Amino acid sequence: MVDAQTAAQAPKVIRRDAYRAPEWMVPEIALDFDLDPAETRVHATLTVERNGDHDAPLRLDGDGLSPVSVRVDGVEAQGWHMDGQTLVVPLSGKAHSVETEVRIAPERNTQLEGLYASGGMLCTQCEAEGFRRITFFPDRPDVLSKYKVKLTAEKARFPILLSNGDPVGSGDLDGGRHWAEWHDPFPKPSYLFALVAGDLVANKATFTTMSGRDVELGIWVRAPDLPKTDHALHALKLSMAWDEKVYGREYDLDVFNIVAVGDFNFGAMENKGLNIFNSRYILADPDTATDWDYDAIAAVVAHEYFHNWSGNRVTCRDWFQLSLKEGFTVFRDQSFSADQGSPAVKRIEDVRGLRASQFQEDAGPLAHPVRPDEYMEISNFYTATIYNKGAELIRMMSTILGPENFRKATDLYFRRFDGTAATCEDFVLCMEEASGIDLSQFRRWYSQAGTPRVKARLEHAQNGGRAVLSLSQSVPPTPGQPSKEPMVLPLKVKLFGEKTGKPLTSERLVLLSDPSEEIVFEDIAERPVLSINRGFSAPVIVESDRDAADLAFLSAHDDDPFARYEAMQQLMLDTIVGAVRSGKGDHGAVIEAVRNTLADDRLDSAFTAEAVLLPSESFVGDQLAVVDPDAIFRAREALRRDLGRELEHEWRLAYEAARANRFELSPAAKGARRLKSVALSYIAASGAPDAASLAFLQFEKADNMTDRQGALTTLAGGTSDKRVAALDIFYQRYSDNPLVLDKWFQTQALSARDDTPETVEDLARHRDFTLGNPNRVRSLIGAFSVNQRAFHHASGRGYRFLADQLIALDKINPQTAAKLIPPLGRWRRFDSLRAEKMRAELQRIVDTPGLSKDMFEQASKSLD
Ligand code: PHE
Ligand code: ZN
Repeated sequence: MVDAQTAAQAPKVIRRDAYRAPEWMVPEIALDFDLDPAETRVHATLTVERNGDHDAPLRLDGDGLSPVSVRVDGVEAQGWHMDGQTLVVPLSGKAHSVETEVRIAPERNTQLEGLYASGGMLCTQCEAEGFRRITFFPDRPDVLSKYKVKLTAEKARFPILLSNGDPVGSGDLDGGRHWAEWHDPFPKPSYLFALVAGDLVANKATFTTMSGRDVELGIWVRAPDLPKTDHALHALKLSMAWDEKVYGREYDLDVFNIVAVGDFNFGAMENKGLNIFNSRYILADPDTATDWDYDAIAAVVAHEYFHNWSGNRVTCRDWFQLSLKEGFTVFRDQSFSADQGSPAVKRIEDVRGLRASQFQEDAGPLAHPVRPDEYMEISNFYTATIYNKGAELIRMMSTILGPENFRKATDLYFRRFDGTAATCEDFVLCMEEASGIDLSQFRRWYSQAGTPRVKARLEHAQNGGRAVLSLSQSVPPTPGQPSKEPMVLPLKVKLFGEKTGKPLTSERLVLLSDPSEEIVFEDIAERPVLSINRGFSAPVIVESDRDAADLAFLSAHDDDPFARYEAMQQLMLDTIVGAVRSGKGDHGAVIEAVRNTLADDRLDSAFTAEAVLLPSESFVGDQLAVVDPDAIFRAREALRRDLGRELEHEWRLAYEAARANRFELSPAAKGARRLKSVALSYIAASGAPDAASLAFLQFEKADNMTDRQGALTTLAGGTSDKRVAALDIFYQRYSDNPLVLDKWFQTQALSARDDTPETVEDLARHRDFTLGNPNRVRSLIGAFSVNQRAFHHASGRGYRFLADQLIALDKINPQTAAKLIPPLGRWRRFDSLRAEKMRAELQRIVDTPGLSKDMFEQASKSLD
């Protein structure tokens, strides 16, 4: 059962400034699990120590638990009581042993927090506050304990018993049961506890660390999935070696296990020595996983592994510091992925993701600082701001410090805070101390929400040879923060000569810290063109006075690949926005720029594929005061059609060239496949009569999922009679593979067809649709809600559908439901008819009796 919550009894707000040190520490805990899906008995023995001079009782968090017994120092406890969900135990001395026993029902746990059943196994998810659903405990990240865990279960159903740390013993018992014991020597907060019991097999390997210790690696899955684990295992080894080389971080236990589960609220979880993963970030083979999936698997494996230092060895003092581990770890995984393939393409992908999710969040009712000041439900703060903007903050500090000082600073941070629970402030202090650089003003990045805007104007004195760059910044108001102070914005800048196409300056790092500043460049002989925020050095919105000709010039001549991509994007964006405003598009400049890019054979295919892709409908919407989804769709489609027609020959050449490639997972082969699918979609956009058969041929002949899904996407968005055939073939072929069925749902939910709203409503009644599996929910409902035109259908049926689904889902899995609220919260950005309808659905959600705290917070804030 989910905690009941109504608007009348709004949940308590937790404030950062209310932080107090724990009253009791728990240096050790012994857990004894008698596992059974219907009823599991949990016996916990806590060694507790009074922290400081006070006479407060021991307070242990619980959620849905009632104690079967409470003992203190070996005898039945006197005077304990429940204060709401909290177990209060009066204690007289400085240190005691406290034992509790509870019973829980994993198979009835649909929230997927705490101990739950998935695909025949039992597993846990404790971050952020799931441990209190397993046993009574001070469930906060600054209470660190050494864990000893004993697991007992039926041997036939659960032959494998795993927990954190190193295995210390196992054996058989009467009645077909067996046991295993695990000890984790590293003190950890409760959110890093994990156990798994199941019928699993492992793909194993040994990794020898930099100091010569052997670590046994295991990726645990159900037997039929074993052949799909090589890529994840390989990525794990690469990650371990990378963290040694780049950050000097060595792994610290004798074993490192990863378990894949089919039902999981997030991507994966970094439990000490026992990562638990959503199976979509482990399982891959060419027939079922796309290149995108392969890259995402490597990135998530790396992310969770890197947490062993940035998160586990050094953890967070409280949940307001969440970005301390998440922002830093995302930055680390992004750097890792950049090192494996093309840094430029990786940066482009990351920035696209940042704009799609974080910029929208920062511009809406749920905007919050990277280090928030308050929350109702911490699960709602696993956001793009904490993760991705948080990563940008670390990136900016590394840019400002430079690589050597940055490494010195992270060394200092890991050394000083090893084994402790730290704060974002601790991290910044290490950056300052190691480099001697003052980051006082930079700290505003942690406290001020909203995406800064930079206005840039470049003036050139014809004869004087002097160019002056005028920069000004502003940070928009966000909820609770009406006015803002200026930030420190590290902007990489360079000037290029319009005539010669050559650089006129070297790259300069401008630290814009005043509201406005002028930067002077001397000896600029010809008219300069401005390249700014190169590499996306600051996560800001730049408004410049560069016209279409300047942007086209940069898209061909800039020597920073990101800036080159960015110039093309800006040109496309200006073109589409212009067409939305005026009703007619002037496509010439984009067509020529794309033609030049396609003709430039020095570019690698992955970059070309990114560069020629139009900005998304929603990114176009972000540029407009009022989003008109239909007008945006039409303007963007018209540009796509003209690009398809005018460059049909080029697209066909690119398509043929890429088709010649054999299947491989090298960056070059992946790039070729990416360009091939983009080319195919432009050929289809041109209206060429053979486009559908070309797509269908690719679909049928594909020897990998990238090509197959690429073709399916093109067919599913079109009107040819091959569409239904392809969808049916795909469904039949993969009907027993949940991860691929997710793609089948998602492809249809993202389709640009007029009837997508109806299709999605039908799919929600499909026998393979279930609200019980978060991946399935995200692939249909989540995907649909970001399909701008379909979701914002003028009838409001998209809004009604989403609200209906979320109200139903809230009863099953509030965490996953609450994450899907934000699209409705964008109502301010739409015309009044749509806005009214969106608000009405939010209100209906808020008014639902028994609403979860998670949903209440998201929906009520979204109404403001
Ligand atoms: N800490 C996990 C990660 O970022 C995410 C997560 C949060 C997973 C909460 C489950 C629950 O790696
Ligand atoms: Zn993380």
